[in-house]
Amino acid sequence: MRVEELSLTSFRNYSREKVSFSPGLNYIVGKNGEGKTNLLEALFILATTKSHRQALDKDMVKIGEGQFRVSARIIALGVDRNLDLGYDVTLRKKVANVSGFPVTKLQDFIGIFNVVMFSPEDLALVKGTPSDRRRFLDILLCQVDKVYFRLLQQYTHVSRQRNEALKLIARGAMKLFDLKPWDQQFAALAQRITLRRFQATERLAASFLSLTDAINRGKETLSISYSSSLLAATASLDVDGVARELERHQREDLKRGTSSIGPHRDDLKFLINGLPAAAYASQGQQRTAVLGLKLAELKYMQEVTGDYPVLLLDDVLSELDSSRRQMIVQVLMSDVQAVITGTDEDDLSLQGVKPALVLRVERGKVVS
Ligand SMILES: Nc1ncnc2c1ncn2[C@@H]1O[C@H](COP(=O)(O)OP(=O)(O)O)[C@@H](O)[C@H]1O
Ligand SMILES: [Mg+2]
Repeated sequence: MRVEELSLTSFRNYSREKVSFSPGLNYIVGKNGEGKTNLLEALFILATTKSHRQALDKDMVKIGEGQFRVSARIIALGVDRNLDLGYDVTLRKKVANVSGFPVTKLQDFIGIFNVVMFSPEDLALVKGTPSDRRRFLDILLCQVDKVYFRLLQQYTHVSRQRNEALKLIARGAMKLFDLKPWDQQFAALAQRITLRRFQATERLAASFLSLTDAINRGKETLSISYSSSLLAATASLDVDGVARELERHQREDLKRGTSSIGPHRDDLKFLINGLPAAAYASQGQQRTAVLGLKLAELKYMQEVTGDYPVLLLDDVLSELDSSRRQMIVQVLMSDVQAVITGTDEDDLSLQGVKPALVLRVERGKVVS
């Protein structure tokens, strides 16, 4: 997979810009605040329709303008495509096109272009919240699995409805019997989402282990595992088992007005020698773990889709020491297209790897 050309209109601090990329390593250099991350963000929303910084759509529109538009020419599995995504502040709506054809459901736009983003905020993933780590899995799975995206949407909807029902029942405004239909839907969706996340983690875990071991060289073992409220409670994850668990937690759920079990409470756990890493991982261990996770993600996507995603590295090279950089170097020597940002060309002390293209960014313009 690769991106050949990116066009921006009224996106962040860009008025109108067209950028051509090379296969291999593309290095974007510029001072802080000039617009480097904005370029990666534009690529990320073409893959996922959302900002990796969790920014609101309206905040990505250039100040003073009414809409943004980002487009790219990409090659996926040898096929040329034009992706085009626009957002209108007044309509509060995104409009997408693929090779000139309007996409009526935004979910059909997700996953045509695949990326792995690694930014400085990710370095906090190990000690961050479970919700940050679930988000990692969700972004990965939504890109490669259309069904997953739909399941997640439905689950969010059904969870809300179930919460409403719980509150009504607690107030005596609804009969307990009427919770049943919500429980059934909730159980079916929860089971499917949990299973998909669990299976993905199993696959990620295998490459994560070998990738991190290559850095640690036997010093300690880093691993990841999916920690699920449902899998912990039921030996095998079937819908009936989940439904029984829901019933077991019913009293608690009624008291709290929310579902106390389900994939919205799960976690992707990092472990050091089998113990939870969140409590005591050193900075170095955290960096190794996150780097290992991102590279495992890259491999996973390649295996599932048959094509490497585009690797987006935002300002992270300067954060990594030489042994960890070496891991990235190995990836960069393979078929992967990468877009990397840094504040200085000297930052790119990747022994043996020369960028195919260096782009300098100044105040929302690509100047070379
Ligand atoms: N909606 C917007 N309209 C205009 N400028 C914006 C908008 N959002 C961010 N910016 C500007 O973009 C710049 C930051 O760009 P960014 O890509 O994050 O910088 P960096 O090169 O450090 O990665 C800042 O100057 C900021 O003011
Ligand atoms: Mg930046």
